[in-house]
Amino acid sequence: MESPDARSSDPRLMAKQREQHNLERPLTTGYNDIDLRRWKEYPHIETGSLWTIPSRARGDGHALEYHGNFVPQIATQTFLRFSREGDVVLDLFLGSGTSAIEAVRLNRRCLGVELRPDLVEQVGQKLAGAVAAGQVCLLQGDSAAEETRDRVRAAMAAAWEKCAADLLVLHPPYADIIRFSDHPADLSNTASTEAFLAAFTRVARNGYDLLAPGRFAVVVIGDKYAGSELVPLGFLCLQAMNDAGFRTKSIVVKNIEGNEVGKGRSNNLWRYRALKSGFYLFKHEYVLIMQKPG
Ligand SMILES: C[S@@+](CC[C@H](N)C(=O)[O-])C[C@H]1O[C@@H](n2cnc3c(N)ncnc32)[C@H](O)[C@@H]1O
Repeated sequence: MESPDARSSDPRLMAKQREQHNLERPLTTGYNDIDLRRWKEYPHIETGSLWTIPSRARGDGHALEYHGNFVPQIATQTFLRFSREGDVVLDLFLGSGTSAIEAVRLNRRCLGVELRPDLVEQVGQKLAGAVAAGQVCLLQGDSAAEETRDRVRAAMAAAWEKCAADLLVLHPPYADIIRFSDHPADLSNTASTEAFLAAFTRVARNGYDLLAPGRFAVVVIGDKYAGSELVPLGFLCLQAMNDAGFRTKSIVVKNIEGNEVGKGRSNNLWRYRALKSGFYLFKHEYVLIMQKPG
């Protein structure tokens, strides 16, 4: 039988042991925790570009209490694909805090910025434990302003000694489809599509500056109709992200059934209008997957 000394000095055996050791270590992309050696063990993770989500996930603090929040599954899917445990998710349109709730559930940290002080207050109460533990940090402010970018940077440094976020989430108002407040800096209050895009571009640039190189941004956006014409906000925002420096990785089309609350008669009226005026009713929105070059 070989002595342990003989075993460790045999170069072929050592190479084999190294190979065995490497095979036992997870093989990851570096931006998520998916072990590529066990890639068949993740059937719950989407890889297709069409997401049909039958209903909104409930529980774990999620609720449809805020008209205009996204279904938690968008956060679940994108956080698992584009972040690791412990990473910092930056959401510059926090709303009712879906990203923050999901970040806590999936053991990520979250910094959320929201213009409406009442929402910042509500999310702070809902996630009081995580805020006290330093897992969630909330700021009230205009995400299009350079001053807010500097405050976010200072907050990340103070809370976590980090100078950049690991994943960026942008779920802006779909222009004026839902008015979120009458604040002049609210993107749902912009006077025209051009003004909306100019403000969105400023947020995209701030997000770019605050994101670590090589990491991902997720934009959730839908189109709108105005003056008997479709306004392709999805494509326009994609262009704005490219102009800010991001590369396009994927355009996911997601159904919007999960967001609907008690339509019915009004749905029929819209169906009549669609047939009469030559358009299709929106049944989808986009989840744009972008990457900051490494
Ligand atoms: C579509 S909602 C986001 C919903 C969020 N994803 C959720 O699940 O609750 C857009 C949010 O952006 C906020 N908002 C609008 N303009 C803003 C700005 N300039 N800076 C920061 N937040 C803004 C609105 O108050 C609104 O809550």
